[in-house]
Amino acid sequence: MRNPIIGGNWKMYKTIDEGIKLAKELVNNLCDLTECDVFICPPFTILEKVSEIIKNSPVKLCAQNMHWAEEGAYTGEISAKMLLDVGCKYVLLGHSERRRGEPQEFDEIINKKLKMALSKGLLPVVCLGETRKERKEGRTEEVIKKQITHSLREIDKIDILKVTIAYEPVWAIGTGDTATPEQAEDVHMYIRNLLSQLYNSEVVEKVRIQYGGSIKPDNMKDLIMQDNIDGGLVGGASLNAESFIKIINACKISLA
Ligand code: 13P
Repeated sequence: MRNPIIGGNWKMYKTIDEGIKLAKELVNNLCDLTECDVFICPPFTILEKVSEIIKNSPVKLCAQNMHWAEEGAYTGEISAKMLLDVGCKYVLLGHSERRRGEPQEFDEIINKKLKMALSKGLLPVVCLGETRKERKEGRTEEVIKKQITHSLREIDKIDILKVTIAYEPVWAIGTGDTATPEQAEDVHMYIRNLLSQLYNSEVVEKVRIQYGGSIKPDNMKDLIMQDNIDGGLVGGASLNAESFIKIINACKISLA
């Protein structure tokens, strides 16, 4: 049995006042949350403020990115140590908006970041997924296999248990075009089988795989009922407390 894990990725939204308001609303409504793991990913500028608000609550802090180096002359970058310092427990790695951003983030860099995050005690959420073109060309599994094998290179079976995988089909992000529960489950099952080949199936049974891409309160319930979908990574619908809380509540039915 894997407890659901739900993340709210605020992306490049929320000023200080807006972030404080949202964090307070979440804490006030989720104070007795026990069955699900919930994290939020505010922008770097408000991590510290949000950290203070959520520190005694079940809601945990996640950063949207980090650098792979311990420290150094990397202008504009943030290290794992800095994230821990501000109270982060999780870190998103390899979000598609970074894989396709400028500069582009490749699996090899994500792998370096993953190793650094694990060595510092952060819990990484490794994001991956295919584009619409890749799906249309029937290359979904090939793309996922490459992303998994390259980004998880040299991660052992102890450390893989600390990793959450977020399957986020690029064509579903911010488009309103959610994958159907069956489409998502097919890929989640493929990911779990792939992990079983890299590790053993007993270990892999414990690894959580989140789905992300146009999650709304209405579609979360059907997604979470799938055997290999263990939660959601929510973008737009996490910017509003009411809809994010409804999504978290929808995930609880998988525990019934
Ligand atoms: P949306 O929920 O807005 O589609 O974003 C998903 C996402 O990218 C979460 O990381």
